Amino acid sequence: MHHLHTLAQELYNKLYRKAPEGYGWINVASGLTLSEVAFRDFYTDFEPKDVSLATQIGPVTMNVPVLAAAMDTVSGPRMARAMTGVGGAAVIFRHRNPETQLAWIEEAIRARPYLVANPVYVQSDARIEDVEALYDRTHYSTIPVLKGDVLVGMIFTRDISWEGHEKHPVTQWMKPLAELKTVSADTDFETIRNRLLNEKECGVLPVVNGHGRFRGMYFPKDVRHVDPAWHIGKPLVGMAVGVQVGDLERVTGALELGIGVIVIDSSHGNCLPVIEQARRIVSLVEDRAAVIAGNVANIDGYIRLAETGVHAVKAGIGSGSICTTSQVTGAGVPMWSLLRELAFAKTELEKRGQHAPVIIADGGVSGPGFAVRALAAGAHAVMAGEWLAAAEEAGSPEIQNARRETKGVTENRYRGMASEGAIKDRSSDRYGMSKSAPEGVDGWVQSRGSLNRWWNKDAELIRGGFAHLGARNIEELHARGNQPYVWVSFTGAGQQQMAVRVATNP
Ligand code: XMP
Repeated sequence: MHHLHTLAQELYNKLYRKAPEGYGWINVASGLTLSEVAFRDFYTDFEPKDVSLATQIGPVTMNVPVLAAAMDTVSGPRMARAMTGVGGAAVIFRHRNPETQLAWIEEAIRARPYLVANPVYVQSDARIEDVEALYDRTHYSTIPVLKGDVLVGMIFTRDISWEGHEKHPVTQWMKPLAELKTVSADTDFETIRNRLLNEKECGVLPVVNGHGRFRGMYFPKDVRHVDPAWHIGKPLVGMAVGVQVGDLERVTGALELGIGVIVIDSSHGNCLPVIEQARRIVSLVEDRAAVIAGNVANIDGYIRLAETGVHAVKAGIGSGSICTTSQVTGAGVPMWSLLRELAFAKTELEKRGQHAPVIIADGGVSGPGFAVRALAAGAHAVMAGEWLAAAEEAGSPEIQNARRETKGVTENRYRGMASEGAIKDRSSDRYGMSKSAPEGVDGWVQSRGSLNRWWNKDAELIRGGFAHLGARNIEELHARGNQPYVWVSFTGAGQQQMAVRVATNP
C-alpha cells in the first residue's frame, strides 16, 4: 500500500488537525461545492469592461480562462473552431482514430473565426435568373461573383429588380470589385472588426489574396459582440490524450500542427500510468504547448503530478453534471474545498522553490457565476461540459445532430464519457480500456443557439464577478480569494434564497 507523499501529509496536518497515528481521522474535513459558497463584494474604482480575463497556463496565454471539456458531445471540430473565436479553447476529445483527431485540430487551427469561408457564389457568366434561383433557395442577400476563383464583384439582392431582367448578365447588376471594400488574407482580426464596424457602407468585407482569389467574407453582425481581447495571439486548440506510449505519436503530429494545449485525460490522475505519461509528454513537448494532467482530488495527486513538470493539474472527481462516480464508487471531493486545498499546496510548493503547476477546475462549472467562484478559489482556468454543451457547435460529427424538441424547447444531447453509450463507442479511455460499468449518464441540456451569439453575455458576467471582488485580473482575484472574510457558505435553505424564487416564463 502506498502512503501519502510526505509533503502532502505535512500539508494536510497543517490544514486539519493531525490524526492519531494509524487511525485516519474521525472529524472529517467538510467539503463545500461551488453552489454552497459565494463571496462578499469589495470596493472598486473601475468598470467590469476594464477587467482582463487573460490567464497563463505554462507557456500558453489564454485570453479567456475557459476550456471546453474533452467529451464527444462537447468538443468536436465545430466547438474547437468556435472556442478559438471566443478566446478560450476546446480540448478535442480523444477520438479512437488519431487521424480524425489530428484533422480536426488542423481544421480548427487554420480556421479564421467569423469568416464565412465557403459562401454560395455565382460565376461571372451567370444570369439574373440564376441569382434569383439561388436567392429563392437560400435567402442570402450578398452573393459573390467569381471568375474562376477570382472575385470580380458582389451582388446585393436588394439592389436588383428581378422583373423583366432575368436574362441580364450578373455583371450588369453587381457592384464591381473596384467599388468594393476588401481586405487581404493576412489582415489581423482587430483591423477587420474595426473596419466592419466603423467604415461607412461596409456591409460586407470580402477577403482576397494577392492574386485576387476569393477567400470568404466577413459581416458586421457576426463581429459586433466579439471582444478584440479574445483574439490576441494565435488560435488556441487543445487535445486529449491517453496513457499509452502509442499516444505520443498523436502528440508529435499535433505539435507539428501547432497544438496549444495537451491534456492527459484520466478520471484518476493520481496513478502510475498517468504520472509516467506526464513525464514522457513534458519532455516531448519542451514548452511548445501547455501540458495538463488530471484529474485529482487530493493534495497528494497534485504534488505527484507537479513532480512530473506538467504546467497544470486538473482538479475534480465526482463534481461533473453527468457524473455518477461519487454515487457508484464513493470517491469525490466537492469542488470549492478541493480548490482551496490545492491552492494551499501550490503556494507551499512555491515557498519551497519547487515547480507548482497551476490548477484547473473541472466539473460543476456550469456557468459564469461558478467560473468566477472557481477562479477566485484558486483555479487559473476552468473546464466545462454542461455549460458549453448548450452551444449549437457542441458535439462531434457522429452525434452532431443529436437534438430534440420538447414542448417547443430545443435540447442538445450531453453524455458522460463513462456513460453506457460512450463506453460502447470507445471515444475515450479516460476510465481505462477495460471499463464496462458506467460512471456517467446520457442526457440533454437546453440549447442556447450558436456560441457566438451568447458568449459575450457570459464573458460580461465573468468580468462582473471579478469587479464585485475588486479584481482587475486573475492575479488580483487570487489575492482576494486568499484574504480572510471573503467567502461565505450557505445551507440548502440559503441556496434556495439565492436562487430565483418566482415562476419564470419558459
Ligand atoms: P460538467 O459539470 O461541466 O462536467 O458537465 C464535465 C466534466 O465531467 C467529467 N466527466 C465525467 N465524470 N462520469 C464522471 O464521473 C462521466 O461519465 C464523465 N464524463 C465526463 C469530466 O472531467 C468533464 O470534463
